[in-house]
Formats: sequence, C-alpha cells, structure tokens
Amino acid sequence: MAQATVLTRRQAAARPRVDEPVRSSRVVCYVGERIYFSTLEPEDAPVLERWINDPHIWANLSMRPPCNAPRERAWIEKLGSDPSEHVFGIVVRAEDRLIGSVGLHRIHPANRSAMLGISIGDAGYHNRGYGTEAVKLMLRYGFEELNLNRIGLAVYAHNLRAIRCYQKAGFVPEGCLRDSLYQGGRFHDEYRFAILRAEWDAAQKVDHPVRRAARRTVELGRAPQAAVACGSL
Ligand SMILES: CC(C)(COP(=O)(O)OP(=O)(O)OC[C@H]1O[C@@H](n2cnc3c(N)ncnc32)[C@H](O)[C@@H]1OP(=O)(O)O)[C@@H](O)C(=O)NCCC(=O)NCCS
Repeated sequence: MAQATVLTRRQAAARPRVDEPVRSSRVVCYVGERIYFSTLEPEDAPVLERWINDPHIWANLSMRPPCNAPRERAWIEKLGSDPSEHVFGIVVRAEDRLIGSVGLHRIHPANRSAMLGISIGDAGYHNRGYGTEAVKLMLRYGFEELNLNRIGLAVYAHNLRAIRCYQKAGFVPEGCLRDSLYQGGRFHDEYRFAILRAEWDAAQKVDHPVRRAARRTVELGRAPQAAVACGSL
C-alpha cells in the first residue's frame, strides 16, 4: 500500500486548500488542491496551438498536425455549445498558469458514460503530479457533478507515463486494440481503460476491497510492455 506523505506543519500551512478562494484573472470553474479548472478562451489559442503541434505532445494523441491558429480558435469557440463535451483548461494555482487541458468527451446521457482526454502541453510540468491530480479532479467532476456511471479512455501502448497516471487515478484496464496506430514507421497497440462510479466511490475509502481488486495484476493484450504497465495496478 502506498505510504502516506507526512508534511511538516510549515509545509501543511503552505499547501493550498481546496476550500480556499482562488485569486485569478481567469474564470475559476472547479477547484482542486494544486490546480483548478478554468474555461478555455480565444486568447489561449496561441499557446494551445504551440502545444498541440509539438511532436512530443501529438505523438500521444489521436490528432495529427498541422493545427493552425484558425482551427485552434474554432475549436475553442465551439467549446461550451456542445453538451456532449466538457473541456477545461488546467491551471496551476500557485502560479496561476495554464499548463494544459482536460475534458470529458462523448458524454452519453442514457448510458451516463464519457471518455476522458488530457494533455499537459507545457512539458516543464510533466512528471510533477499535475496530470494525476487533474484526472482525479475530472473524475470527481464527472461522477459528482454530471452523475456519470462510467468514464473510459484510450491510451497508446508506448505512453507509459499516461498509463501510470491513469492507474494512479484508479482506472482499470479493459482491453487492447492491436495495431491501432501507425506512427514512426510502425504500428502500435492502443489500450482501453475505464472506471465505474462504484469503483470510484470505493476508492475514496482507504483500502476498500474494490480498490484492492483493482490493483490485481491484469495482463492486457500481447505487448510485453502492457504486462509491465498493468502489472503495477
Ligand atoms: C500523460 C500526462 C497527462 C501525465 O501527467 P503528468 O503530470 O506528467 O503525470 P504525473 O506526474 O501525474 O504521473 C506520472 C507517473 O508516470 C511515471 N512515469 C513517467 N515516465 C514513465 C515511463 N517512461 N514509464 C513508466 N512510468 C513513467 C512517473 O514516475 C509518475 O509515476 P509516480 O508518481 O508513481 O512516480 C502528461 O504527461 C501529458 O499530458 N503528456 C502529453 C500528452 C499525453 O500523453 N496525453 C495523454 C494521452 S492518452
């Protein structure tokens, strides 16, 4: 079981609390411990355009460049008018800095299901726990605000950082789509993960049986790296 982090009194005091007001020039939609979700606005288009065309970013996403400024602006302007999509900017509270975006897509009211997508475009903010916090915050939003029952996602097999991030947030592997992506001169597998409301509820309670079950070693598909990736569940 993961060791709880013990903070000194000074560290605890310095740590922002979810219920503390966020001072920001941006619109504050949903607040976490170190990040908050904001609306994405047309003035964010240049930075989003730079991120989405970065090969280190798009190699992990289903889109392909080029995505020019008018296309990026059109995407942002459409947000909010489509009820099947809820997309937010991820902002670091301490710096009031936009670092990426996260969204629930293909929201289905009858099935109460959606697909999660996330991209921290500013690589200086990778591997610092912001992705995991944003995914967890989005799960809270999806289950507690949208009353969803199932949140799924797709991730390419080579994206080990994202797989680890999703596992930390409680996602369970469901399957492998072999040779789903052609990139860099060869095919790559794609994994599907999901989390159900009951699993998420249970995971809020420490060491609940459902959480223990979700940690079981699950071997996915045929790729050896899948077994490694999913073995640490
Ligand atoms: C994927 C992404 C959201 C993860 O967010 P992040 O803030 O970088 O990730 P976190 O710091 O929360 O967690 C990353 C975990 O992966 C681990 N990790 C990093 N590189 C790894 C690798 N090559 N192999 C295995 N684990 C790795 C980290 O050590 C960390 O785990 P730990 O906390 O147990 O040490 C972010 O990196 C990102 O947006 N990347 C570009 C776009 C993308 O890939 N989007 C997802 C498409 S499915």
